[in-house]
Amino acid sequence: MTAILFVCLGNICRSPLAEGVFRHRAQALGVADRFVIDSAGCGGWHKGEPPDRRSIAVAARHGVDLSAQCARQVKPVDFDAFDLILGLDRDNVRHLERMASGQIPGRARVALYLEEALGMRDDVPDPYYGSDRDFEAVYRLCDQASGALLTKLIA
Ligand code: 4NP
Repeated sequence: MTAILFVCLGNICRSPLAEGVFRHRAQALGVADRFVIDSAGCGGWHKGEPPDRRSIAVAARHGVDLSAQCARQVKPVDFDAFDLILGLDRDNVRHLERMASGQIPGRARVALYLEEALGMRDDVPDPYYGSDRDFEAVYRLCDQASGALLTKLIA
């Protein structure tokens, strides 16, 4: 069993897509029961809210359902509960590393999402102030990254 936590800033735009697309692809491959899949935000401003309607819409256009997801903030116990904590951008990774360094080392390894998945030291750009086209670009990155991540993890 591998537990993966996807983390962005608000947990309403990018990490819900990373979580939902990874789960969708794992289900399609029949390996969803081998993973615990969750997402969280560095900040807690959107705690308890559903994903941004633009993330829900782009996911739905591609047959991915985000309706069961609900925003939460990353917490210290996550560093014990998860094997892999993936920050969607480098600011998120810095935040996670600062949190991890303030406590007894947990089991989680913190990494940059696209680097872990695709070997690209790139951020998934924050689409919050952007357009539908920016959300579509986030979806495509998450879809590509999820495929690669799954291939790596189930090999
Ligand atoms: P996310 O996008 O980190 O991809 O969920 C954002 C959501 C909310 C805010 C910023 C980014 N915000 O400033 O409230």
